[in-house]
Amino acid sequence: MGRSRASYYSILKQINKVANSALSLKKICNSIAKSAAKAVQANGCRILSFNPQKEYLITIGAYGLSDIYLKKGPLDVHKSLPDILDGKVVFIANAAKDERVQYPKVALAQGISSILGIPVLEKGEAIGEIRIYTREPRQFSEADRSFLLSVADICAVIFERAELHQLLEQDYKASEKRRKSSRVSSLPATTLRPTSFAHPSEEDFAKLLDFYCIEWLYEPRSFPLRWEGDKIAEMFTPDFYLPELDLYIELTTLKQNLLTEKNRKLRQLRALYPEVNIRLLNKSDFLKLLAKYGYGPLGEAKVEGVDRVLYSHAKIQRRVRTLARHISRDYTGQRLVLVGILKGVVCFMADLMQHLSLPVTLDFMAISYYGSDGQVVKITRDLDSSITGQHVLMVEDIVDTGMTLNYILSHLSAHNPASLRVCTLLDKRARRLVNVPLDYVGFEVPDEFVVGYGLDYKGEYRNLPFIGILHPELIKGTKPR
Ligand code: IMP
Repeated sequence: MGRSRASYYSILKQINKVANSALSLKKICNSIAKSAAKAVQANGCRILSFNPQKEYLITIGAYGLSDIYLKKGPLDVHKSLPDILDGKVVFIANAAKDERVQYPKVALAQGISSILGIPVLEKGEAIGEIRIYTREPRQFSEADRSFLLSVADICAVIFERAELHQLLEQDYKASEKRRKSSRVSSLPATTLRPTSFAHPSEEDFAKLLDFYCIEWLYEPRSFPLRWEGDKIAEMFTPDFYLPELDLYIELTTLKQNLLTEKNRKLRQLRALYPEVNIRLLNKSDFLKLLAKYGYGPLGEAKVEGVDRVLYSHAKIQRRVRTLARHISRDYTGQRLVLVGILKGVVCFMADLMQHLSLPVTLDFMAISYYGSDGQVVKITRDLDSSITGQHVLMVEDIVDTGMTLNYILSHLSAHNPASLRVCTLLDKRARRLVNVPLDYVGFEVPDEFVVGYGLDYKGEYRNLPFIGILHPELIKGTKPR
C-alpha cells in the first residue's frame, strides 16, 4: 500500500526543516536519506554529488547501507546508472543482473535487489543523485517517484547553498593568500567538494592535488583483510584514490607504532589484492611523488608564478587522443602533412602525431613579430618541402587574436595545397580580432595568459607537463613565441 499525498506532504515538510537547519551538510543529507528511505518503505538510500570533473560520484549522505557497500570502489558516472547523467530517472529491477550496475557482485553479496535512481537537477543539468535501495524486488509508484523528485529538488538547493558557502570561504582564503604573497592562489571551486576529512593533513593533500588539477576521490573503497566465518573482521580504507594514476594513497605520520600497523595492513592488502596499486606516504613522500609526475614544490619544472593549473597532464592527453581520433577518421585513406610553428607547438605536435593512425609527414615554420605593437608577422623559417597538392593540417598551440594564423594560412594557401585545415590545442576566443576558421579545437581558454605544455612566457615554462594560468602581475605585455 502506497502512502497518501498528505503523508508525503508532511514528510517533505520535515525534510525541508532539516534542510534549513544549521546542521553540517553530511548530517543534513544523512537525515534526508533516512526520511526518504522510510517514506518509500525502502531499506536504504544515499545522496550523491558528482566530482568536479563529472566523472565520479561522491556520497554525501546515506542511510541503511553497510560500510562495505558504500565503499565498494570508485563509482563511475558513466558505468553506474549512466542515464541519470542525462537527467533521467533510472529503475533497476535486479541489481545483480543489470549491466547498468557497476558492482553487481557486491549488490548480490549485500542483498540489494532493486535500485531507483533520481537525478538532482540544477537548471536542468544533473549535479547529483538520490538512490533508493530495496532488499526485495519491487516497483515504485508514480507517487513515490514524484515524492523523490521533490526531495531531489531540495537536495539541489542544499548543494547549491553548500557550494556557494565553499566558494565564499575559498574566495576569502584566496584573497588573504594573495595579500600575503603574490604567487599562488587556490583553485576556484566550480563544483561542490563535500568531503569531510578525518585529518588536516588529508585536506592539505587534497588541496595540493586540486591545485595541480589531479582528480581524487576520498576513501572510495574499503578492502576486507580478514574474515571470521563469512563476516568481515578487519578492513582497510586507504585515504585517497587518484583515478588518473590508478593509485590508492594512505597518508601517514612518522609515528613508529602507527607506521608498523599500517605497513602490516598494506602487506596483507597487497597479498590479497595484487592488482591494486597502493602507496603509503608521509608528507615528504607525497611531495616526492608529485615531483615524479613533474608537479609540486620539489618538481623539476618551474611552477613559481603559475597562479593555477587549468588542465592537468592527464586531461591534456585525453583531449589530444580524442582530437587525433577525429582527425584520423576525417582523413581516412589519405596522407597528411602536419605543419607547426616553432616553438610553442612542440609538445602538442609530438603527442598528437603519435595518436594519428594515418601516414603523416611533418614540417615546421618559424616566425617573428615586429612593428611598434608587435603585430606584424615575418616568416624567419619556411617549409622544407612543397605542399602543393597535399592535404595540410596546420597545428597550432594557441589562437589568440588570430592575426598569426591568418597570415600563415594565406601564405600556405598560396602554395595550392589539396586541402588546408587548422587544429589548435587552445582557443582564446574572447580576444579574437580576425575570424579564422578552426576545424579542431582542444580547449577554449579564458582571456588569461597561459603557460606550460610548450607555451612560454619569455622563453620559460615550456617544460611544465600541464597548462596553467600565469599570475597576472608577472605579465607586462610582451608577445612571446
Ligand atoms: P595571435 O596572433 O594573437 O593569435 O597569437 C598567437 C601566438 O601568440 C601564439 O601562437 C602564441 O605564441 C602567443 N600567445 C598568445 N596567447 C598566449 C598565451 O596565453 N600564452 C602563451 N603564448 C600565447
